[in-house]
Amino acid sequence: MKQDVGIGLLGLGTVGSAVADVLLNKADKLAEQVGASLILRKVLVRDTSRQRAVHLEHGVLTSQVEEVVDSPDVDIVIELIGGESPALEYIKQAITRGKHVVTANKEVIAKYGYRLLSLAQEHNVDLRYEATVGSGIPLISPGLVKLSQERKLSGKKVVCVLTGTGLKDPGIPARYAQPPTELPADLAVIEKALGWG
Ligand SMILES: NC(=O)c1ccc[n+]([C@@H]2O[C@H](COP(=O)([O-])OP(=O)(O)OC[C@H]3O[C@@H](n4cnc5c(N)ncnc54)[C@H](OP(=O)(O)O)[C@@H]3O)[C@@H](O)[C@H]2O)c1
Repeated sequence: MKQDVGIGLLGLGTVGSAVADVLLNKADKLAEQVGASLILRKVLVRDTSRQRAVHLEHGVLTSQVEEVVDSPDVDIVIELIGGESPALEYIKQAITRGKHVVTANKEVIAKYGYRLLSLAQEHNVDLRYEATVGSGIPLISPGLVKLSQERKLSGKKVVCVLTGTGLKDPGIPARYAQPPTELPADLAVIEKALGWG
């Protein structure tokens, strides 16, 4: 593993500030857990002149997304802007530039997760979205990853909603509560049936 792993943060609001605080003030503990130093290189916000809850070195804060996604010093982009636009576009930019992406954005993952995972696979990077549900309680990994490791999901696709909170369209979980009795095998068809396509 790399000695130093560069982090680019998109968003420094409620969640972004907490993440930045951990990266800056719990660096030693994190390095011990991860086996590498996680260095906060760049942080994207809308307004760079605003007072922030965390103290950042000069030059870290930017309002230009290219400074984050094009930086050779950034290995992992953490998207904490929220909403669909411009978060989706920025996630795609990061993936296509070869950055691993971590996001807490349930709207983007609910609507475009499948396509983004394919894009990430194409570019040989990881897209992690555990933080989209359960406030950091690991639900996706133990549920899906473990089951697939045990080959119980081999050759199968799983579609589910783990949380409905935060989705702008409250109808999505409601539609899931009444799925078509016979789900088609093609995920694109399922998405269309649920009104996502
Ligand atoms: N809040 C929670 O309890 C919680 C819990 C779990 C997951 N989440 C998820 O975490 C994500 C972030 O939520 P949050 O509550 O931290 O959001 P937030 O407080 O509204 O912060 C959003 C941040 O993104 C920046 N931003 C917004 N639009 C931008 C743009 N066009 N260009 C550049 N920067 C932009 C803002 O910049 P400025 O500071 O300059 O305005 C701000 O720093 C969301 O996907 C949310 O669903 C939130």
